[in-house]
Amino acid sequence: MTSNSGRSRGRKEKENKKAFRKLTNDYLCALDQFCRRAQNSDNVLENLKPFSKFSKNDLKLDITYRKAESFDETTSEEIFSVFEQNMRDMYEKSAVGWIKREKWDELFDNDARYVLARDDANMLHGFVHLRFVVEDNQDVLYCYEIQVNKLSQSKGLGTFLMKLLELIAFYNGFSKIMLTVFDINEEAKKFYKTKLGYVLDPFSPTAQDEECDYEILSKSIKQNPKVEKPQLPSGAILSS
Ligand SMILES: CC(C)(COP(=O)(O)OP(=O)(O)OC[C@H]1O[C@@H](n2cnc3c(N)ncnc32)[C@H](O)[C@@H]1OP(=O)(O)O)[C@@H](O)C(=O)NCCC(=O)NCCS
Repeated sequence: MTSNSGRSRGRKEKENKKAFRKLTNDYLCALDQFCRRAQNSDNVLENLKPFSKFSKNDLKLDITYRKAESFDETTSEEIFSVFEQNMRDMYEKSAVGWIKREKWDELFDNDARYVLARDDANMLHGFVHLRFVVEDNQDVLYCYEIQVNKLSQSKGLGTFLMKLLELIAFYNGFSKIMLTVFDINEEAKKFYKTKLGYVLDPFSPTAQDEECDYEILSKSIKQNPKVEKPQLPSGAILSS
């Protein structure tokens, strides 16, 4: 038979667990709001004025930030065309295949945010599609796409755009950048890993020895002491 003190200890433990669950839920809600705030920002490049121009080799480009929901049909077509020229072959060889409608919906989802690089004739040379999300219980700047049009590749634009993403993450207090890359995309893997210091993310299926034709890479971003962000209650371990 359980003693009175045993019962009260049991009750206390239950209460503690409940209180702790609430703290953890509150933390996750606050983290979600933290990401939403960055998502809702009209211009995350506002404090990064020196990076509003890219000038290297024969490229002279303006760098702007846009929400996909503000795109007209021409802008969407232009982005899709750069994407298709670079990626269609790889999608056709992959397990997901090439399904234009699905990719179009993902690229121009209301949550999609873009950094665009255009010249003075308004031609698009490259772009990044990014989103601020909670991923595996962490605040993450997710790089959905980086695409540089074929004529402008190997001129430093890709590196510039990825470094700009790191600054965007830092200034908004995000602790990690994540991205997905096809296993057969050797050039891009070399670019991310060797040039930019990305590593296999622990949540990548390939990190868990699963058969898969893509990998998830990530890079940790130094914490910005000026940004207030939700703190995980001490001792909490979040299950993913
Ligand atoms: C991957 C990608 C984004 C890289 O962008 P990029 O603008 O070509 O990259 P950069 O020019 O900054 O650097 C890439 C290479 O060009 C080289 N490079 C940079 N400046 C250069 C210059 N002035 N002249 C010659 N080469 C140069 C770099 O050294 C680097 O080569 P290395 O890694 O073999 O040493 C781009 O090639 C691309 O859009 N690829 C197709 C789409 C794709 O695969 N996207 C990734 C999906 S996950």
